[in-house]
Amino acid sequence: MRISDNPVATKLKELEVELRPGVALSAHTSLGIGGTTDELLLRRYDSIPEVMRLLASQGIPHRFLGGGTNVLITDGELPWVTLHLPSTKPGMSIEGNIAHVDASAELGGMVTFCAKHDLGGMEGLIGVPGSVGGALRMNAGAYGTQIGSYVREVELYRALSGELETLRGNDIRFDYRHTSFAPDDVMLRVKLELPSKPFKDIVAGIKVCNEKRRASQPLGQKSAGCIFKNPPGGSAGRMIDELGLKGHRMGDAMVSDRHANFFVNAGAASCADMLKLIADVRERVRLAHGIELENEVIVWQN
Ligand code: EPU
Repeated sequence: MRISDNPVATKLKELEVELRPGVALSAHTSLGIGGTTDELLLRRYDSIPEVMRLLASQGIPHRFLGGGTNVLITDGELPWVTLHLPSTKPGMSIEGNIAHVDASAELGGMVTFCAKHDLGGMEGLIGVPGSVGGALRMNAGAYGTQIGSYVREVELYRALSGELETLRGNDIRFDYRHTSFAPDDVMLRVKLELPSKPFKDIVAGIKVCNEKRRASQPLGQKSAGCIFKNPPGGSAGRMIDELGLKGHRMGDAMVSDRHANFFVNAGAASCADMLKLIADVRERVRLAHGIELENEVIVWQN
């Protein structure tokens, strides 16, 4: 969606919003898939409610894009604008066992920053790509760690009230790859309470997780991590693997030959290719196991 000619463009500038016309979102997603639209970079958190009101008043649909590592975006000209928080030099500071981190910070960078201050617990999250905000929204987890366990407070833009709010960790539900945040809430800052741990022990834990990940996941390839959630008590990756589907493809969308729950863009895959592959694998698993796998990846379609 193009809004440079819309009167709203001037007002957005006054709110220190940078308008970047015609951006290919394939360059902003780890899958390398996604159509084109205008992008708005929000430099001031306090202006977000006003920006949202402006967009709503002009009937301009929008979506917030974080790290782009767990999202599959449709092809072509997109019927919405994307909003971004600036990710250069995100704020991170420590006060005792509390870490204050901007949601636009990179998750791995946050884990190492905390480690340098002898705060651990999040070693398992080190190789999870994406932003802190995305990790909060999905309650990202790996190797027995999930970010939700450490959340004490989240500052966010709440879609329901249209205002900035602060939620206490106890008032947020963090389940397996699911939280009680509304889909259009926007994470801004988090306060985490972390256990004290010597730097060298944290580094040793990080090394173990990195090795496990390198041994089992297609790290160098374009993917969105696991495509499906694990069904209760089961493993989507194992089920897909047992059906002999590693290397199975639709166009350039392919089931990874390293980890069957990672679907990779093996060339110039479109969103349509990836959706066909997801539907096909889901159907094969349903026929074989009677289980309907649920997407872990978030799909943005028209
Ligand atoms: N397995 C196979 N074949 C495969 C993949 C896995 O047989 O192709 C088997 C493994 O040998 C193992 C079992 O399935 O016995 C589970 O595999 P793995 O340890 O790789 O864990 P997972 O359940 O597939 C989950 C998360 C990952 C996270 C890892 C490590 C989900 C959907 N996936 O994978 O998270 O990195 O555990 O903790 O919860 C993600 O969320 O995007 C993600 C990749």
